[in-house]
Amino acid sequence: MLKIVVCVSGGGTNLQAIIDGVAQGSIVDTKIAKVISNNRGAYALERAGAAGIEAVCVSPKEYEDREAFNRAFMQEIEKTEPDLIVLAGFLVTLPAELIRKYANRIINIHPSLIPSFCGTGYYGLKVHEAALARGVKITGATVHFVDEGMDTGPIIMQKAVAVREDDTPQILQKRVMEEAEWLILPWCINLIAGGKVRVENGRVLLSE
Ligand code: GRF
Repeated sequence: MLKIVVCVSGGGTNLQAIIDGVAQGSIVDTKIAKVISNNRGAYALERAGAAGIEAVCVSPKEYEDREAFNRAFMQEIEKTEPDLIVLAGFLVTLPAELIRKYANRIINIHPSLIPSFCGTGYYGLKVHEAALARGVKITGATVHFVDEGMDTGPIIMQKAVAVREDDTPQILQKRVMEEAEWLILPWCINLIAGGKVRVENGRVLLSE
């Protein structure tokens, strides 16, 4: 059984896709043991509660400094001892110590085809604003392992989405979620649960 902790900051639609995937059996042999948010008002916490999943808020605002937050965040993770940490729209930088300890056991969903429109400052709608400003015809989403860089870890899966001439950032964001994010993040978790993902020389190899 793959025990996962999902870290969220906002609406939680990617979390919901994981919850639904586990419930419907498209994600095998997986248990969402805990949902952690840095944002006490995140609707994602409501989604976790409605699904009967332990939902915890660890907010940097409630600690005197970043070190204290990092310690509290790590403790919250380690109490659960997950096999995999899933960042589903989590907007806080992880402690480097956690990334080292969970090497190739933390995954993130990013709403573009990395290496385009990623890295510092590229999150949420800003990603889609940049894609539209550049005039790309294809964008999409990427699931990757998390390393100590920003959106730089080994890529597990990507899915392309067409950009339309009348797209606004909001319309494009919704299409990328519907046609890419909500499909590839659950699918990657399913593959990891089935032992079908490995990293060799910084590249991900999938066995179907
Ligand atoms: C998604 O667009 C995801 O790609 C990005 O943050 C957003 C989170 O949305 N990392 P939600 O909270 O899953 O609805």
